[in-house]
Amino acid sequence: MQIGTVKLTCNLAFAPLAGISNLPLRLLAKEAGCGLVYSEMVSANGLVYGAAKTHQLMNTTPEDKPLAIQIFGSDPVIMADAAQIAAAAGADIVDINFGCAVKKIVKTGAGVALMRTPDRARALLRAVRHAIRVPLTIKIRSGWDRSGDQAFDLVRIAEECGVDALAVHPRSASQGFRGRADWSLITQIKNATSLPVIGNGDVEKAEDAVQMLEQTGCDAVMVGRAAIGHPYIFAEIRDLLAGRHRPPPDIHARLRIMRRYAADSVNYLGERPACLMMRSRLGWFVKGLHGCSAFRESIKRLESLEQVMEKIDAYEKVLTATRRNYSGMTTL
Ligand SMILES: Cc1cc2nc3c(=O)[nH]c(=O)nc-3n(C[C@H](O)[C@H](O)[C@H](O)COP(=O)(O)O)c2cc1C
Repeated sequence: MQIGTVKLTCNLAFAPLAGISNLPLRLLAKEAGCGLVYSEMVSANGLVYGAAKTHQLMNTTPEDKPLAIQIFGSDPVIMADAAQIAAAAGADIVDINFGCAVKKIVKTGAGVALMRTPDRARALLRAVRHAIRVPLTIKIRSGWDRSGDQAFDLVRIAEECGVDALAVHPRSASQGFRGRADWSLITQIKNATSLPVIGNGDVEKAEDAVQMLEQTGCDAVMVGRAAIGHPYIFAEIRDLLAGRHRPPPDIHARLRIMRRYAADSVNYLGERPACLMMRSRLGWFVKGLHGCSAFRESIKRLESLEQVMEKIDAYEKVLTATRRNYSGMTTL
């Protein structure tokens, strides 16, 4: 799979997830074989007016590449400047958010609001296209309402403006995350454009990704929520696409991944902020495991990396003992 000049090792992408898809989590996805990772959405205003926290969202390393940095905003001039800043910071691809339905973003005319203002969308894409040499992609919803019409209009505009690929999350703005993603819209968009189409929405397990590729004909699959706490879903999808079934990682492997995530987060954010984050984030990784509620309770006051490791070690002992007692009945 190729997006403009960027060649991907496989056609799997980790979705942009605000507050979640930071460098440590992206690195786990990459390690599991994900072909393309996206940054959290980054405010174009924040980049142009120099907010340090906004710039930090673009931190990257060679193992993180290729990286799509997603920017959001509604002013073509500011978006063009922000796209240049993102490219200079190491974006292999600049992606524009046409899907965020959060009220405070929509009321500034950004995110999915751009899908109902096609003239502004065109001006914005033209300005950004002129400003950068790296590939330009967009991530869209089905539109403002359920008709899906705005998606087709935007795809035509994207082609006209030299966009290199698009990701489609087929839910309308009004749907938020409710109901099911309408994969038939991915098929229709794929049939209506020559641009590479990345399908997204409701891939919960490896089988869903394979089904999305087969059913919609999309060029690549993007996984969001299912990869949080389960980044090795990318390895499972890759194996399934190669005709092999990969068993889920055993408890020791899962806890090893958690330790990596915690240690990388401390390196990336500093000990105190990382520990505050780990108080909720580590809970993602133990979903479905025996005693996960007690583990979640035990990490609510984490203060240091040492404590994080102690809690994980203690939980590993609980899981190992349970497995011994119930001869493999623990849910993995
Ligand atoms: C917590 C959260 C944060 C998200 N942040 C972004 C974002 O920054 N940019 C974006 O384009 N989409 C964002 N999304 C949407 C996802 O990228 C994705 O389109 C959506 O979750 C559907 O895919 P999934 O079913 O695989 O999760 C976010 C979704 C969630 C749940």
